[in-house]
Amino acid sequence: MTLLVKGGWLVHEDRVEKGDLLIEGEKISAVGPELKAGGAEVLDAAGKYVLPGVIDAHVHYQMPIGDLLTADDFYTGTRSAACGGVTTVIDYAEPCGPGESLRAAIDRRLAEAQGQIAVDLALHLVLFPGQEEDKESLKEAVEQGLVSFKVFTTYDQRMSYEAIGRCLLRAEEVGALVTVHAEDHDIVTAARRELTEAGLTSPRYHGRSRPAEAEVVAVGRIVEMARSLGARAYFVHVSSGEAAGLIASARAQGLEVYGETCPHYLLLTEEEYATERAALSLMCPPLRKRTDNFRLWEALSRETFQVVATDHCSYTPAQKAAGTAFFNTPAGIPGTETLLPLIYSYGVRDGWLTLPQMVRVLAGNPARLFGLYPRKGCLQPGSDADVVVFNPRREVTLEGENLHSAAGYTPFAGFKVRGYPDATILRGRLVYYQGRFLGEKGQGRFIPGRTRK
Ligand code: URP
Ligand code: ZN
Ligand code: ZN
Repeated sequence: MTLLVKGGWLVHEDRVEKGDLLIEGEKISAVGPELKAGGAEVLDAAGKYVLPGVIDAHVHYQMPIGDLLTADDFYTGTRSAACGGVTTVIDYAEPCGPGESLRAAIDRRLAEAQGQIAVDLALHLVLFPGQEEDKESLKEAVEQGLVSFKVFTTYDQRMSYEAIGRCLLRAEEVGALVTVHAEDHDIVTAARRELTEAGLTSPRYHGRSRPAEAEVVAVGRIVEMARSLGARAYFVHVSSGEAAGLIASARAQGLEVYGETCPHYLLLTEEEYATERAALSLMCPPLRKRTDNFRLWEALSRETFQVVATDHCSYTPAQKAAGTAFFNTPAGIPGTETLLPLIYSYGVRDGWLTLPQMVRVLAGNPARLFGLYPRKGCLQPGSDADVVVFNPRREVTLEGENLHSAAGYTPFAGFKVRGYPDATILRGRLVYYQGRFLGEKGQGRFIPGRTRK
């Protein structure tokens, strides 16, 4: 099938220009002014922005936590993604424990996604302590297309800082990038103990149970390790202005450290925890102060952060309400579908980001960092025809019931956005148009990442 996206403002990473996009089959075949294509179906994009499909580089679908599974499975999660202009998501292959081989964990995760996904999928690989020693398996994982590893400084699967150091080195050897959930476990444990002993355990104390200091200490330790080892590191879901400052100064000194933040850390505050919505906004790390919002926007505008992703990890209000304390309320929120409208409305319209910067943090940079570029992340001949026609005049008040996640709510309820996707095209197929999902379960593909080696 041939599709001509006609007369829009094409937003690239370095410029915005008026033009057409010709799609033949699954690929972009031409980009330029006044393209001619007899017989092509025409999608009129006059007055709209034409963007590369968004990549949400941090999602968790069908993720078990104890006896609980996230509300979104691979189908509902990716359907919701398509309706928000997101054409590639990066989820996780996670061993069931240190005993499961990496190969088995990857094969199991691919089998879970197979036939279910409605947009394209890449995977990061979670490592348990000890697995960083198994160079052969790490190499094999990279060959399978999992070119980024994930380690935790907290939770049950936490690694010691020393083990993370070994992991940074191993990853360099096999050409992978280590992504880190950075919250110092000792600080989190001490804060939790203090609150528990004082009987302050309701979700309203979640923020105090994981103070910003925990993030700052963990980011600081790993930055120093990256410096002494000459290795790269990528920090997921950075929540505090102070941690952003550490990443900024490391980068200014030439270190290859990267940062990701999320819409909730840019737009919501710990004041949520003082309301009846506390559990619905409970995620790790927690929401911070209004001043952190500003410092994070500033860091994004200065390109201290390379990526905005959502850490989409959804639970229904009923699943959330089953928790009685901050430590047994399932942590995580839905976010993929609202990523682009929020970053456009509160990032671009409010003057923090230019349109090309938005395309860099939502498409180009995650594609490059996770080995998907130039197949994904850009509007170039030869790239996958993953395209968003974005209407900068469409006004929407976000409400859970109008979104497509199985969570059934959004922590951004009541946020007004001006600018919303009109159409999402996945490899040449229209999968979303003006409020309606038109795609199909199983049309998404696993996209292996490629290393830079
Ligand atoms: O609360 C969160 N973020 N849940 C998802 C798992 C993680 O830590 O990223
Ligand atoms: Zn995390
Ligand atoms: Zn996460």
